[in-house]
Amino acid sequence: MASCFRALHCLLALSFLSSTAYGGQLTPTFYALSCPTLELIVRTTMMKAINADRRMGASLLRLFFHDCFVQGCDGSILLDDTGTFVGEKTAGPNANSIRGYDVIDQIKANVEAVCPGVVSCADIVALAARDGTVLLGGPTWAVPLGRRDSTTASLSQANSDIPAPTSNLSSLITKFGNKGLTADEMTALSGAHTIGFAHCEDFRGHIYNDTDIDPAFATLRQGNCPAASGSGDTNLEPLDLKTPYVFDKDYYPNLLGKRGLLHSDQELFNGGSQDALVQQYSTIPALFFSDFAAAMIKMGNISPLTGSAGQIRANCRVVNK
Ligand code: HEM
Ligand SMILES: *[C@@H]1O[C@H](CO)[C@@H](O)[C@H](O)[C@H]1NC(C)=O
Ligand SMILES: *[C@@H]1O[C@H](CO)[C@@H](O)[C@H](O)[C@H]1NC(C)=O
Repeated sequence: MASCFRALHCLLALSFLSSTAYGGQLTPTFYALSCPTLELIVRTTMMKAINADRRMGASLLRLFFHDCFVQGCDGSILLDDTGTFVGEKTAGPNANSIRGYDVIDQIKANVEAVCPGVVSCADIVALAARDGTVLLGGPTWAVPLGRRDSTTASLSQANSDIPAPTSNLSSLITKFGNKGLTADEMTALSGAHTIGFAHCEDFRGHIYNDTDIDPAFATLRQGNCPAASGSGDTNLEPLDLKTPYVFDKDYYPNLLGKRGLLHSDQELFNGGSQDALVQQYSTIPALFFSDFAAAMIKMGNISPLTGSAGQIRANCRVVNK
C-alpha cells in the first residue's frame, strides 16, 4: 500500500485486494461504512436466541445450507407462501424441519432499527450461521458480505437439489458437485452434524435395515424410533450422540465407530473415497476446523446476487412491493 497516496487509489486497491482474496464480489468489509455495528447486532441477537434454546445455533447453520443450495445464497428460503406466491418452506427437506425463521426476523428487526434498508436478509443468514457455529464452540471465519435478496424462490429446486438423508456417496458427491463443491468439501461441511438433531423418519431406514451400523447403537436409537412408518416420525435424536450442543470433531469418530445417525452420514465412512479424510478429521481437529471454515466461505459464494441484482428486502418473509 506504499502507493496509496490518494484516497480513491487506496479504495480501489483495497477493494481489488478483497475481491480477489475472496474469489467473488463479496467482501467482509461490505457494510463497514453503511452499518458498522451489523456484526455486533447479529452476534448479540444470536447469543440471546441460543441462551433460550441452544439448538438454535445448529438450526441456523442448517438454514444457511438450505438457502445456498437453492438459487444460491439469496434468502429465498425465507419467503413465505402467499395466495399468489409459492416459496421453499413446504419443500420436503424444509417442511416441519427448518427452524429459526423467527430468529432471522428478530435479527433483521434489530438491524433495521440501526441501519434501515441497507443489509440483506441473505447476509444476515450467512452471519447467523457463522455465529451459531462459533457460539457452540466451533471455528470462526470472516464472512464475505454483499449478497442481495432474491425476488423469487424455487420449491422444485429445494426438492431436487438438497440431498436426502437416504443418499448414497455418489449421489452426495454429485449434489455438492452441482454447486461447485468438491467431495472433500462435502465431507468437511457434513461435520456440521456434530451439532443438532434429526427426526426419526429421517433415520428409520438406517437403524432398522442397514448393516453398516454398530448394533448396540442401532438398538439404542430404535428405542425412540418405532419401525412402523407413521409412528414416532417426529421423535428427535442427536446427530452426534454425545455432544449435540458442542461444535467439536466428534462427528468423525462416530463414523469410524459406525455410529452415524443418518444413512448419508455413514456413507462418508463406508469403504469409499472419503474414508481417509474422515480418519484424518477424527485425529486432527484443527484440520477439520480450518477446512470447515474454508468450505463454509465457498458454500456462501454460491451464485450470490450482487450489484443491482435482486433487492434489500424490508421484511425477510416478503418481496418488496
Ligand atoms: C451431506 C448432505 C446432508 C444431508 C443428507 C443432510 C441431512 C440432514 C437431515 C435429514 C437433518 C435432520 C432434519 C430433521 O430431521 O428435521 C439434518 C440436520 C442438520 N444438518 Fe444436515 N445434511 C447434509 C449436510 C449438511 C450441511 C452441509 C450442513 C451445514 C453446513 C448441515 C447442517 C445440519 C445441522 C446443523 C442440522 C441440525 C439442525 C437442527 O438441529 O435444527 N447439514 N441434516
Ligand atoms: C446411488 O443413488 C443413485 C440415486 O438414487 C442411484 O442412481 C445409484 O445407482 C446409486 N449408486 C450406487 C453405487 O448405489
Ligand atoms: C426395511 O426394508 C424392507 C424391505 O425393503 C421394507 O419393507 C421395510 O419397510 C424397511 N423398514 C424400514 C424401517 O425402513
